[in-house]
Amino acid sequence: LELSLNLLSNSKKAPSTKLSKKKALVTAGPTFEAIDPVRFIGNHSSGKMGVAIANELADRGVAVDLILGPSDIEVSNKNINCIRVTSAAEMHQYSMDRFNDADIAVLAAAVADYTPKNVSNSKIKKANGIMTLELTKTKDILKDLGKAKTKDQLLVGFALETNNELENASKKLKEKNLNFIVLNSLNDDGAGFEFDTNKITILDDSNNVEKFELKAKIEVAKDIVDKITSYL
Ligand code: CTP
Repeated sequence: LELSLNLLSNSKKAPSTKLSKKKALVTAGPTFEAIDPVRFIGNHSSGKMGVAIANELADRGVAVDLILGPSDIEVSNKNINCIRVTSAAEMHQYSMDRFNDADIAVLAAAVADYTPKNVSNSKIKKANGIMTLELTKTKDILKDLGKAKTKDQLLVGFALETNNELENASKKLKEKNLNFIVLNSLNDDGAGFEFDTNKITILDDSNNVEKFELKAKIEVAKDIVDKITSYL
């Protein structure tokens, strides 16, 4: 009986003592910026990487607020409070609201950097000649959380780079006051938005650079959460 009880308890993942009772904020997915009632500017983010991180944290006993942009992914983890948003402005607002409560924030969303200056209330009709769309900058959620961050809060960002990858990622780490940054390179086969796999490099605030193999996003999420645990 004792043996079977042991087997039973070993088969369930024991919550990490360092992470249980912690609270996290995770952003994931794309954002859609409305042009008119039927059109928007979006991107190809699937939300898979961010949702995998939210699930991994939740499985290790963390209470997660997941701010998720438009994505088909179903989220059904009892430790995740999933807040579905559409635009960068909404994602910014909810992230700022929930950050106070968070011990850990991981910003994996592919947030639009620009949004239409004016949103038309009715469908824009086509006309002759060139159509020009004016865009304004969105608020940088990661940067604003970096400004608000206390020394007890852990802030993790992502960087998607195509050239001068390490240099650009290291600049973002410092400018946005992050503890570490997860670099994805679009130059790696099998890494990026639409894949189930990813290949990352982690740069941290002590100038450590750690390269990981190409692996399933679920496994990548474990590496990222292990890195988070090393700070606690
Ligand atoms: N990010 C954010 N809010 C924005 C834009 C980006 O929170 N308005 C976050 C992303 O979630 C990611 C990180 O910032 O964690 C990096 O995003 P990226 O687009 O690679 O970099 P940018 O800071 O937008 O810089 P650049 O466009 O110059 O590469």
